Amino acid sequence: MFKYIGSKRVFIPILGKLASQSEATTAVDLFTGTTRVAQEFKRLGLHTTACDIATYAHVLAQTYVATDETQINPNELNEALNHLNQLPGKSGYFTETFCEKSRFFQPHNGVRIDAIRNEIENQYLGTPLYPLLLTSLMEAADRVDSTIGVQMAYLKKWAPRSYNDLEMRTPKLLPGAGEAKLGDAMHLIDELAPTGILYLDPPYNQHRYFTNYHIWETLVRWDEPEVYGVACKRVDAKEAETKSVFNYKRTMQEAFFDLLSRARADLLIISYNNESWISAAQMKDQLLGIGKEKVVALGFEHARYVGAKTGIHSPSGEKVGKVSHTKNTEWVFVAGDKAQVEQTVFGFEAAQLAEFSS
Ligand SMILES: C[S@@+](CC[C@H](N)C(=O)[O-])C[C@H]1O[C@@H](n2cnc3c(N)ncnc32)[C@H](O)[C@@H]1O
Repeated sequence: MFKYIGSKRVFIPILGKLASQSEATTAVDLFTGTTRVAQEFKRLGLHTTACDIATYAHVLAQTYVATDETQINPNELNEALNHLNQLPGKSGYFTETFCEKSRFFQPHNGVRIDAIRNEIENQYLGTPLYPLLLTSLMEAADRVDSTIGVQMAYLKKWAPRSYNDLEMRTPKLLPGAGEAKLGDAMHLIDELAPTGILYLDPPYNQHRYFTNYHIWETLVRWDEPEVYGVACKRVDAKEAETKSVFNYKRTMQEAFFDLLSRARADLLIISYNNESWISAAQMKDQLLGIGKEKVVALGFEHARYVGAKTGIHSPSGEKVGKVSHTKNTEWVFVAGDKAQVEQTVFGFEAAQLAEFSS
């Protein structure tokens, strides 16, 4: 699974425990990103729907959440992967843009990415293997990139891993049904069926996923966009439709509270970070205000994202600043009926709990 800011990797056991104790049978992960949380819900047997506005995240959701492992022929998948792994490289848009105009990948891998991506489009579009192969390609490319985990900049000197040869591997699928939806949470919220758990992990600051992961967006869409700047970002990054209300201080709070008020779910589980534009008190008041009988906040100390630890970098990858701290507190809010909330948070240490009732 690839490098992703705000990924809830370390919270999986906690979110999994909450989901199983809640005894919910359905879940929606509305801002699914890497799909890690949705995968855990699915693994636990909940019928899970994974949503995101990013096309690459939708492909991950199609692979890890919507695909039923038992419906995929493993021989066919492995044959396709072997075939793609053996294709000779052929320079094209990807190599020119991300290996020559910029230096995100070494050309020996860029030419293979070009060749493999074209073959996926020509041979597998419309088949059940299509999202799986795209996922495998993104993950393979991520293992040989030359960044610190975001695509706003590349390293001045090639990262050691970028010398390795790109290798497509089999994605670890899960058995069972699930759904993937591509779209803006502000619209999807009204279209989704009522659910047992609604898990929310929106962006809480100005860092845009569309620009931080523009290469995955381009690799998946395969639309050869015009690019700008040192990082060769897509020109449509400047357009309103690629901007999220959650990335602007002016709009974030109102949008999120509006979203909460329209949610149709027995239980809301919200990942929340103390560096965000919403205070914990405001979050609690809002949840009680929309009629949730009980709200519990679980607090966890957490290392900050990788960029924060390695320092602040200029667009050309030079280190230009230090970071004041490398720890912050992540909160998980659980809101719903009193009895279900109590059952859901049962066994968490008292020190981690802040409880509020209406
Ligand atoms: C904090 S990340 C989620 C990380 C995820 N929980 C994980 O573990 O990988 C936030 C996600 O929200 C998505 N996003 C941003 N604005 C959105 C919107 N308006 N509607 C739906 N998704 C949005 C981003 O593409 C990003 O993947």
